[in-house]
Amino acid sequence: MTIQHDGSKRTRNRALLKWVDEIAARCKPEKIYWCDGSQAEYDRMCEALVKAGTFIQLNPAKRPHSFLARSSPGDVARVEDRTFICSAKKEDAGPTNNWMDPKEMRAILDKLFDGCMRGRTMYVVPFSMGPIGSNISHIGVEISDSPYVAVNQRIMTRMGQQALDALGEHGKFVPCVHSVGAPLAPGQKDVSWPCNDTKYITHFPETQEIWSYGSGYGGNALLGKKCFALRIASVMGREQGWLAEHMLILGVESPQGEETYVAAAFPSACGKTNFAMLIPPADGFKGWKVTTIGDDIAWIKPGADGRFYAINPEAGYFGVAPGTSMHSNPNAMLTLKGNCIFTNCALTDDGDVWWEGMTDQPPAHAIDWKGRDWTPASDGPAAHPNARFTAPASQCPSIDPDWENPAGVPISAFVFGGRVSKNFPLVFQSYSWEHGVYLAATMGSEATAAAIGQAAMRRDPMAMLPFCGYNMADYWSHWLKIGRGSVSTPPLIFRVNWFRKDENGRFVWPGFGENMRALKWIVDRCRGRGQAVESPIGWLPPHSALNWDGLDFPREKYYSIMNIDREKAKAEAEEQKEFFAKFGDRLPRELELERELLLSRLNRSPDTWELSKAA
Ligand code: OXD
Ligand code: MN
Repeated sequence: MTIQHDGSKRTRNRALLKWVDEIAARCKPEKIYWCDGSQAEYDRMCEALVKAGTFIQLNPAKRPHSFLARSSPGDVARVEDRTFICSAKKEDAGPTNNWMDPKEMRAILDKLFDGCMRGRTMYVVPFSMGPIGSNISHIGVEISDSPYVAVNQRIMTRMGQQALDALGEHGKFVPCVHSVGAPLAPGQKDVSWPCNDTKYITHFPETQEIWSYGSGYGGNALLGKKCFALRIASVMGREQGWLAEHMLILGVESPQGEETYVAAAFPSACGKTNFAMLIPPADGFKGWKVTTIGDDIAWIKPGADGRFYAINPEAGYFGVAPGTSMHSNPNAMLTLKGNCIFTNCALTDDGDVWWEGMTDQPPAHAIDWKGRDWTPASDGPAAHPNARFTAPASQCPSIDPDWENPAGVPISAFVFGGRVSKNFPLVFQSYSWEHGVYLAATMGSEATAAAIGQAAMRRDPMAMLPFCGYNMADYWSHWLKIGRGSVSTPPLIFRVNWFRKDENGRFVWPGFGENMRALKWIVDRCRGRGQAVESPIGWLPPHSALNWDGLDFPREKYYSIMNIDREKAKAEAEEQKEFFAKFGDRLPRELELERELLLSRLNRSPDTWELSKAA
């Protein structure tokens, strides 16, 4: 039986109308609803979510137009082990992705999606990733049986009729199908967070489709974000000659009004949102401003003038709440003043949200993320460690005036950061594009292997390990090619590490706003004026190259986090060999050559950097 809907009044795109009918025939929802993206629709849907028990309206005097949702305790994060790249050939997914044969996966999905929306409304959620009308943007349509997804997508993307209008009659869209996998029998009462223990987050790179089943949470369900804007877009970027990256984008404005844009990739839990919204220290950086374009993802295309131009494909922030405070990130806190959706945060007695790290003093009593009474003496945190806020980017006090410029912003530098407690300097610059790609390909974070008490490196190339939709070695080749072949002035490439510790295990670098000191050197280098000295690993700033006004950070302390332990660096380069070996013949030769060049520099002593320190 076909279900009536008003799709043909909303779009003349025949491919879209046909696809919606096909999905409806498979999923067998009770109703079909096309989202228009209006405020009235959003308000109506939020009200219905409150009635259904999924949302709790927060105290309007404290947090106007905001809601709290609590997920099912088993559905709290992205599920990387249930995430699949279903390319026709296994080698095209590469050794770092879960792969399944597309035919096999389709057979599984056929069964799972058959009737999976029974008793529910099927929402058709058209969205634009990126400003409407930008040639860097692309359109997707998510079909979902979760109204929670629909309202989140209104914050996270340009959603609704505007996206359908931009799609037009013949435009192409990325089809994204999502079901929580919890059909309702006639008369069956719904739960506040429907989901299924069986979860599949699947991507078909050849046909550029996304199918997600069983989870209602974050990146598993808001399919514009990691699934489309990174996994599928990385494949589109390779085919079409651009880059889809797990990068924040920020602007640095000098007191003279000179604007320099930087895109930066950090693995999870490295303070990415804080860096995107950095407030320069008042002392020493009078008149300097950092502006925010994006906090998570960058789409970057070559421009007519031979430079890369980037947009933030998202319209909102889906950020980790715990640890966010007026100390760590005042701009994020101010962004959250209202019109937000909070998920798995704690509820305070006055109807507001709270999470660990928000205030020095925890509330005396709250309701935790599982809906239970909580006091500071309770076992476990009040908010889930992966509790999230969904917030409109337009509310960010540091938002860049050009954040919605369809032309994007010109990128002068790529910055890659890891979390390494020993032996990686605060900041350094690559010698060349190829060397920079090598530095990005080998980045990682220390994961403490608690059992043996040793720190091991979790490699996370370009912070894309869980997000690259094809073979990582081919992705490196794409990087090498695009930097040389598609732009005349590729951005300079830098590595940063805010996390060096002293012998007592304490962080040496103060971080947060003080990261501006390293950032300003990066900008200086882009502008051809920063001082730098050669070292085995790249160009390093001598102490005198950084602005130290307002921070007591003596020379010896600085050099203690800028030193390179040759033996450790050699051991690290040997470890990289094992990592590269996984990619076999697909590994671009440049990367192995860079690794060997590094080893030869490390074997030559003394070096310019050591001599300069002694001077
Ligand atoms: C995110 C992530 O949620 O990178 O942005 O895990
Ligand atoms: Mn991310």
